[in-house]
Amino acid sequence: MPHPNESSPASPVEEKTSSKPPRRIERVCILTGGGDAPGLNAVLRAFVKTCAELGIEVLGSEDGFEGLIKGDGLVELVPTSVRGILPHGGSILGCSNRANPFAYPTRDAQGNQSFPDVSDRVLRNIERHRIDALVMVGGDGTMTHARDLEKLGVRVVGVPKTIDNDLASTDFTFGFDTAVATATWAIDALHSTAESHDRVMLLELMGRYAGWIALHAGIAGGADVILLPELPYDVERVITKVRGRAFSIIVVGEGARPKGGETSVIEQGSKGHLPRLGGAAYQLAQLLEGRLSHEVRVTVLGHLQRGGSPSAFDRLLGTRFGVHAAYLCARGETGRMVALRGHDIVTVPLEDALQRPKLVPSDGDLVNTARAIGIEFGG
Ligand code: F6P
Repeated sequence: MPHPNESSPASPVEEKTSSKPPRRIERVCILTGGGDAPGLNAVLRAFVKTCAELGIEVLGSEDGFEGLIKGDGLVELVPTSVRGILPHGGSILGCSNRANPFAYPTRDAQGNQSFPDVSDRVLRNIERHRIDALVMVGGDGTMTHARDLEKLGVRVVGVPKTIDNDLASTDFTFGFDTAVATATWAIDALHSTAESHDRVMLLELMGRYAGWIALHAGIAGGADVILLPELPYDVERVITKVRGRAFSIIVVGEGARPKGGETSVIEQGSKGHLPRLGGAAYQLAQLLEGRLSHEVRVTVLGHLQRGGSPSAFDRLLGTRFGVHAAYLCARGETGRMVALRGHDIVTVPLEDALQRPKLVPSDGDLVNTARAIGIEFGG
């Protein structure tokens, strides 16, 4: 194992020096925020094992921030706590995309909901449990909380996670590879039934406002049409593509929308909480109604993309992130997130990761490759 004092690849951003040396990090708390993703347990396992080697004590906050907000949901993590968890999906700590410390959903006796800022409770519990740094494994929401807690004086280290792969500053997040494999399996399965019945099959995939899962799985599964959130589609182009074919597979990113139309939403967001997307494939099915001689069927793959055993790639990436997050703690380098650049693990300022979501470029190599083999994007 390389020693943590080995220098990490240089960040393009210079860091300010302080006249006071930071306190040595002896005790940390790790949490898995937001929705789960295959590979979370690989991160926890690698982080806990490496911290044990480095003499750093580890606590885990249950259900994302819930444990830290309530103060009684903290568990001690030692190497035996993480034994055997590598092939398991989910997170042994549990996850929550409701427990936002800056907008915590609360109901009064009358049932009225509000979203108070409870970050002071987090600060108190950090103090009470003598936690020197927080290690936050999550997507853009969790990284935003990490940055905001840092502004309040908390030392934080970020580990990027999301099946959507839409976080800037890292080439890949773990969870994405497993989600793409599951989605590709689903396209393969739909092919045979589509062919048997001469049907047009619509498959809705996750990814929010980024079409990475739809694009990768659509190409890998041999879809005829891929509709991405980044490229509003013209339904006439979709019809031209599938009309005259015996059967077709259309992959629909959940954030896809027709030109001039709206993103399909199941539940509007509230303060500090994102809307729930869904219905994009049904929206397209309605637009196709009466325009084709084929029968049209919709499949929404949903949370199957987030579940199950992580792929080898996600286990490996999660393990590398976990080890390097522990190294950051050992070096006292907080305010940074581990990331993958090419084949290397680097560290970047948290702020960089939050600049903008990483979206599919409409003239990028993957889209052009797909177009070259006749895949229609509708736009
Ligand atoms: O961000 C990950 C993700 O799985 C998105 O792809 C999807 O839109 C969302 O989370 C679903 O969230 P929930 O589990 O709250 O329904």
